[in-house]
Amino acid sequence: MKIAFFDTKPYDKPAFDKYGEKYGVKFKYFETKLTEDTVKLANGYDGVCAFVNDTVNAEVIDKLTEMGIKTVAMRCAGYNNVDVKHAKDRIKVVRVPAYSPYAVAEHTMALLLTSIRRIHKAYIRSRDFNFSLSGLTGFDLHGKTVGIIGTGKIGRVFADICKGFGMKILAYDKYPADGFEDGDRVKYVSLDQLFKQSDVISLHCPLTDETYHVIDETAIEKCKKGVVILNTSRGALVDAEALLNGIKARKIGAACLDVYEEESDLFFEDNSGHILEDDTLARLISMPNVIVTSHQAFLTEEALISIAETTVKNLLDIEKFGKSENEVVYKNSNS
Ligand code: NAI
Repeated sequence: MKIAFFDTKPYDKPAFDKYGEKYGVKFKYFETKLTEDTVKLANGYDGVCAFVNDTVNAEVIDKLTEMGIKTVAMRCAGYNNVDVKHAKDRIKVVRVPAYSPYAVAEHTMALLLTSIRRIHKAYIRSRDFNFSLSGLTGFDLHGKTVGIIGTGKIGRVFADICKGFGMKILAYDKYPADGFEDGDRVKYVSLDQLFKQSDVISLHCPLTDETYHVIDETAIEKCKKGVVILNTSRGALVDAEALLNGIKARKIGAACLDVYEEESDLFFEDNSGHILEDDTLARLISMPNVIVTSHQAFLTEEALISIAETTVKNLLDIEKFGKSENEVVYKNSNS
């Protein structure tokens, strides 16, 4: 089986080559993203493998089906960049629903600790032999309340980590998980209550029509002064303009973003020699209390191996059986 692999980065190849060779799947690596203009590169392949910032819209799907391509294998969990409704009955879409929830949850805590203990500032200072502590005062997480939106695989691991820090957990999920609540320490509440009572808010839900801009101006107004916002899920869960205004108004104490609304043309690439056109991102990055990482929460050795293994299995399942347990099936709510 021959697969056209889009948006390839050097760290993708070792694991995909290993599992590809083992199971007879040959990957052709293209550095370019999958778009309406680059889709023609997939001609002659049996399937395409795409990532979070590739475009799998109706036009791309139509062109893929015209070329006789039967499978789009997403090597990620989220699939908000796929027109799942249009794909129905035209092309199979598979994904990697779980690879390492620990990778993302641990990165979320790494961002939180870096931010509130000012590690990003201290690191730069000490490299310049500046050992002053002025401006580095943080706060204890112990006894604070974290609001977790989305208590799926990642949200639950993050909740466990927060429990270890002695935090109280408030959670909101459209489909609450059985057995997740734990007396006064872990409770499901309404979104409003979560906004009003949390010292830290962490997003772990998918991006859907319902969750788009779940953190917007109205939500920020409801939050405690000094709230820390963590987003390692999908950029458009947060209205970046509203976040920036909340920071300027000193309402938001800190923000840690591994994802950004308009990340697709920027993240994963070295833009250091370019003039950044996105004023909102530039202003956010300039803030002393904002930390931005470039969609790297998933990036651990364990996760890369698991992603490659599951993707190869998904492709083989579709080829052999015409179905996969990891198929993305269109539902009306698309959630
Ligand atoms: P999951 O599917 O296990 O959990 C998602 C949870 O969100 C579920 O409990 C679901 O009921 C809940 N949910 C659905 N609609 C909701 C709504 N309207 N309001 C509140 N909750 C809602 O997914 P998992 O594996 O925990 O991943 C969560 C998100 O993390 C993914 O959707 C993806 O966007 C993001 N992600 C980010 C990565 C990164 O590198 N930064 C890597 C992997 C995932």
